[in-house]
Order: sequence, then C-alpha cells, then structure tokens
Amino acid sequence: MAKKGRIFSGMRPTGPLHLGHLVGALENWVKFQDEYDCIYCVVDWHALMSEYKDPTELKTNIRSMVADWLACGLSPDKSLIFVQSDVPEHLELCMAFSIVTPIPWVERVPTFKEQVEALQEKEVYTYAFLGYPVLQAADICLYKADTVPVGDDQLPHLELTREIVRRFHNLYGVQVFPEPEARLTRTPRLLGLDRRKMSKSYGNFIALSEEAVSLNKKVLGMVTDETRIRKSDPGHPDTCNVCSYYRVFAQDRVETVEKECTGALRGCVDCKRELAEILENTVKPIRARREEILGNSDTIDAILADGKARAASIARDTMNEVRDTLHLPLRKA
Ligand code: TRP
Ligand code: SF4
Repeated sequence: MAKKGRIFSGMRPTGPLHLGHLVGALENWVKFQDEYDCIYCVVDWHALMSEYKDPTELKTNIRSMVADWLACGLSPDKSLIFVQSDVPEHLELCMAFSIVTPIPWVERVPTFKEQVEALQEKEVYTYAFLGYPVLQAADICLYKADTVPVGDDQLPHLELTREIVRRFHNLYGVQVFPEPEARLTRTPRLLGLDRRKMSKSYGNFIALSEEAVSLNKKVLGMVTDETRIRKSDPGHPDTCNVCSYYRVFAQDRVETVEKECTGALRGCVDCKRELAEILENTVKPIRARREEILGNSDTIDAILADGKARAASIARDTMNEVRDTLHLPLRKA
C-alpha cells in the first residue's frame, strides 16, 4: 500500500507514561504505522530543558519510555524509533534555524511564558527553553516530515515550524523542506484522577506500568459526583469524572452506567470497582509486554542502535543540503 506521507513525532522522556499518553498519542501512533512512513523520536534534549537540575533519571526514563512504546504496539519493523541525542544533526539544524528565526517569533509562542510560569521551581527561563520550538522544528524538518501528530497545545509550535521553513526558503531561494501539517488527534482529553490536568507532578494518573494493587487503590480513591451522598440520591454522570473514564475506556458500558446512576440504582463504589477492572484489563497486557521487553536488556539497545543508524543516514543527507545552501563545507560520509 502506498503510504500517505511521512510522520514525525516526539515524546519527552521525563517520567512514566500513563493512560493519557495512551489515548492522547500512542494509540494513534500505532495506527499511523500502517498508513504513513513513521519516525518516532525520544526527544531527550527537550526533556533536559526542563529536567537539567537533576538529569540522573534520564537514561532510565529513555529505556522505560521505549519499553512502553513497544508494549503499546510500536514496532521497529514498521517505524523508525530512535533517540534524538544519538543524532547530532538535530542540534546542527537547530542552529541553522536559530540563525534565521527573529527573536519575537519565539517570544510570542504562548507555551513559553505559560511553561515558565507553570514550572517555576524548574527555572526554565533559559536561552535553550526559549528555543524549544526551534529544536522541534529541526526535529521535524531533518526528516522532511510532512505530517506531525500532536495535541492542540502544540499547534503554535507547528505554525512556527512552517514560518521558519518559509523564511529559510525565501532567504536562499531553495525548496528543501515540506511545510509540515499538524495531524490533530481527536481524542477526548482525559483528566487526572482528581480532575486536575493529568500530570507527573500531581501524581494523579495511572501509569502504563501501574501494578494492579495500586491501580485499584487509585481508582477507588477517585472523586465522584460530590452532590451525591447516598446511593438513593440520583447521580450526575455527565459531570462525574468516573463516567468520563467509562466514555474513553468502555464506550459499551456508558449507557448502562448513566441509566443506573441517574436512576439511583448504582453506587459509586461499585461503579469505581467496575472501572478499576476495566482499566486493569487495559493496562495488564501492556504491563506484561513491558516486563518482557525490559527483561531482555539487549532488545531495546538493538532497536535504538538500528534506529540511530537509519536516522543518521537521513539526517546527514538533509544537513548536507542545508550546508550547501548556507555555503558551509559539506560533510563526507
Ligand atoms: N514538544 C513536544 C511535546 O512536548 C515534543 C516534541 C519534540 C515533538 N519534538 C517534536 C513533537 C517534534 C512532534 C514533533 O509534546
Ligand atoms: Fe459517577 Fe458512577 Fe457514582 Fe454515577 S455511579 S456518580 S457515574 S461514580
């Protein structure tokens, strides 16, 4: 089957992946493998931009994230899977792009000020962090990807990528890169167990590696419809976070849950018990595959070594075109 184009996407190895990553990104990544030529990158330089004060977990997080990817169905036979820092051309193209990117373009990207505010204790008010979306542009363009699956929070970064590409082409009268398009994933936003944004720092998520006992405990601790005191009170499933989890993970049960909840026939504890079982059934096979993959320490190393070689060969070719455009000496094989 002819592929529709080339996808590039990246994820930062900053901690355990959770159900939000599964429904918000990974399930789509897996599906795209058969439709597109896919490149999936562990963006460790991007992770360092926020974790630089304590980078000690980085290597572990990289392996753990790749194990989760494979456990969810990404396959090295279908996709190119590699680590950003294994291919130094990302930083070279980032430099070339930095040279042609006016400062106001990066200053006005809304995620910059937002993240500086949100991550105060991480002190991300740095030179590199201002350039976060420029490195992201380089990631995408190095492989001449035309399609980038991202959440809507990343749209400004994609727009900046397109602007940088246009400016590069206009300045030098060349056409080197496609202008990449976002492929928005229409997945329901899954809130954290406590209804706040799902986040590592709140600990309000179920990891893809979550053990059954702690999964159960977390689900039973979920806040339900707070206006409902007794089982005989009719509940409000439309505003209940537990019900929104049913909508994402057990579509076929939603009608029953809603009917029994509003009819005061279903207690919240029972409702959560059932949800815990559903989520355990989702996580269990992932957890098992993950353990299997991590149990054979050579598997991930071999996949990443192969990914590195394949990525490096594409990256070198693109960088030589860029070098040629900028009248820099070419790099010989
Ligand atoms: N900024 C992305 C995120 O936080 C991660 C990322 C880095 C990325 N480089 C990328 C995503 C290139 C898509 C394409 O989610
Ligand atoms: Fe929420 Fe279920 Fe309780 Fe209804 S029965 S309020 S859906 S937890």
